[in-house]
Amino acid sequence: MRLSRRDVLSGLAASATLPSLSWAATPRVLTATAAQVQLAPQGYPETQIWGYDGQVPGPVLRARQGDLFQVDLVNDLREPTTIHWHGIRLPNAMDGVPGMTQAAVPPGGRFRYEFRVPDAGTYWYHPHFNSVEQISRGLSGVLIVDEAEPSQIDAEHAIVLDDWRLTQEAGFVTPFDHRHDLSHAGRIGNYVTANGQDQLSLTARSGDRLRLRLVNIATARIFDLALSGLRGWVVALDGMPLDAPQQMERLLLAPAQRADIIADVTAASGQEAFLVSVERGEGFAMASITVQGQTDHDLLAVPDPLPPNEMPNLDLGAARVTELVMQGGAMRGMQSARWQGQEMSMRELVQNGQFWSFNGVAGMTDTPLLTAARGETVRIPIQNQTAFPHAMHLHGHHFREVLADGALGPWRDTLLVHADETRHIAFVADNPGDWMFHCHMLSHQMAGMMSWIRVTA
Ligand code: C2O
Ligand code: CU
Repeated sequence: MRLSRRDVLSGLAASATLPSLSWAATPRVLTATAAQVQLAPQGYPETQIWGYDGQVPGPVLRARQGDLFQVDLVNDLREPTTIHWHGIRLPNAMDGVPGMTQAAVPPGGRFRYEFRVPDAGTYWYHPHFNSVEQISRGLSGVLIVDEAEPSQIDAEHAIVLDDWRLTQEAGFVTPFDHRHDLSHAGRIGNYVTANGQDQLSLTARSGDRLRLRLVNIATARIFDLALSGLRGWVVALDGMPLDAPQQMERLLLAPAQRADIIADVTAASGQEAFLVSVERGEGFAMASITVQGQTDHDLLAVPDPLPPNEMPNLDLGAARVTELVMQGGAMRGMQSARWQGQEMSMRELVQNGQFWSFNGVAGMTDTPLLTAARGETVRIPIQNQTAFPHAMHLHGHHFREVLADGALGPWRDTLLVHADETRHIAFVADNPGDWMFHCHMLSHQMAGMMSWIRVTA
């Protein structure tokens, strides 16, 4: 059933006292299945979702940094599926990309994912098969990897932001590959939720220090977030700690991105605090925190940075440079592109559901965008010539943005590139295998914005 506030809290409490040691012996079973849940607000019918263990979002999975993580995926759907562990620097065979790192798990099938989790932080999991539909129907969940030393907080909440495109009867609007979505901003929903609920309500004491793990699992919506009654610092992005916590004013969270926020409750007892989503100048409460009582410590100082994960050193001077030019979509279009080895006119591309290209190629090809020797630094200037923003995600690695003045941005696995921008990313290709590099606006991904890189062994 849906993840209620109580489930989240008791789940976290249990894992705090009982770390996931038992997982090494007994893999956790995660079943991808259809289920009826009350997704739309009370008064609407239930929705038949697809969810891990029948929940939306799926169960919060937890491990400790360095643990061997094991999950047995059971496919109880009527179509194949896989799990991609978004943001985890794992061995290629565990990456969950059908036809590239594994065969898709057929209906009734089972697959064991098993890998060490090298980095602490906030990650998530989702299918990589028929992604627009499977994720839009509810298949996704949070994976938390705990630091060896827990940070000084009074409470923690994983908050999954999502949107859904539902009919008046609370069913899914179909098709999932509507042409307008493919060629515009993607499948933006008409119903926004936090942890699968219309109004997520939490409680805290005035002065409490909270850790909020924000995850945007929407297929296309960019959230513009703010806090009210809370004083917050961003301490990690896409799982990776920032060198210095940054005071949070507004925070753009693109599809697939995560942010860890340390927030002190400044609202007084009896008041409410909010996580706010700003849309066209108006604020909507994504989560409301009822403030009751007073914490037993003084208001704390600016939080220390989280302990860093072990990241490689970039050698920008010796970097292999490969450009990525994005074209296509409504308003700009493109003349032609290669699709499945054939040069096609825009008209032909559209007939094949393709609207976008990377370096003149739509969709997957046999040739990678680039091949890097293991350990090599790679720099990719990403040039967005389209009229839409795109959330570019690289598998198996985290990258840093090389800013105009040469400074390096935070480690990320997903970067939002706005229309007409050119943004440079750099990473050390230290994880051998074939890795996808694609737009995480999933309608764009299926309509052409897909590529991959190869890192030799
Ligand atoms: Cu979160 Cu290729 O995906
Ligand atoms: Cu895109």
